[in-house]
Amino acid sequence: MSDFPTVRLRRLRRTAALRRLVQETHLVPSQLVWPLFVTHGEAVRRPVTAMPGVHQLSPDELVKDAVRAAALGLGGVILFGIPAAKDATGSEAYDEQGIVQQAIRAVKRAVPQLLVIGDVCLCEYTDHGHCGVLRDGDVDNDASVSLLGKVAVTQARAGVDLVAPSDMMDGRVAGIRKALDAGGFAHLPIMSYAAKFASAFYGPFREAAGSTPQFGDRQTYQMQPANGDEAMREIRLDLAEGADIVMVKPALPCLDLIRRAKEEFGSPLAAYQVSGEYAMIKAAAERGMLDEPRAMWESLTAIRRAGADIILTYFAPAVAEQL
Ligand code: PBG
Repeated sequence: MSDFPTVRLRRLRRTAALRRLVQETHLVPSQLVWPLFVTHGEAVRRPVTAMPGVHQLSPDELVKDAVRAAALGLGGVILFGIPAAKDATGSEAYDEQGIVQQAIRAVKRAVPQLLVIGDVCLCEYTDHGHCGVLRDGDVDNDASVSLLGKVAVTQARAGVDLVAPSDMMDGRVAGIRKALDAGGFAHLPIMSYAAKFASAFYGPFREAAGSTPQFGDRQTYQMQPANGDEAMREIRLDLAEGADIVMVKPALPCLDLIRRAKEEFGSPLAAYQVSGEYAMIKAAAERGMLDEPRAMWESLTAIRRAGADIILTYFAPAVAEQL
């Protein structure tokens, strides 16, 4: 190919029609997943201060958002539960009548065609706020895995379409797979939060889900942000344990790992644009510092361009409405 002046890349940027023709990366509603927070009660739609536009919803209100998700053609919703009471072992997480189990039933009854994903973790349900049960002041890996298996099975019995473990215990995909298979759910897929970092960007979520650790932090189980090779090991292990979809989280700080994971594994890949990524855009836009729709599009397109097939994002309905 000869160079300038024969080659002029600006030719294809001259009109909106040309730019549209050569657009490489697209967002489609079917690949967007909307995270929703469900709480006990009726007619509750309680705003989350740190995440403008996000609410804690009672099951009846949740159903309204699920109907909206289906109408917009979203890929699905992922549910996080706020229990009536927290305890040392997070028992509402694996209670057949727990808030998420109730919510799954309500949504599947009202909108059976909508994909419902259950987040599988204990942190919203434990009084200490950690993602597993404690022994001698640290999270006990294997005891936690066995409880996570129970969480997945109770969600499966409630009719969930996909379970998504977010706890970062070792061997939890294998443990959950075994529990599901034994419970008659060999067909139910797992989307693992495979490469999940101990990130500052989860801050606003902890207000939404009431899951701030009461002591310490999550660095003994979530990954340190400095490590990329280790992220690939986490993903490889989760796939070997039977994960059907793997996730990188957070998204924008990990675009390099999304790309590496897509190239190394080729399996369906999800990325989570987390609460802090959403809140940053919202907060800056509220102060007039940047244009919210453009920042939303640019960040989500970058995540897709890096290699994510599926994006979990609080912007899901806003994007779908503009498509
Ligand atoms: C629970 C969980 C968290 C998120 C998803 N599942 C919080 C955490 O690990 O502290 C974060 C999502 C977000 O920030 O939007 N383990």
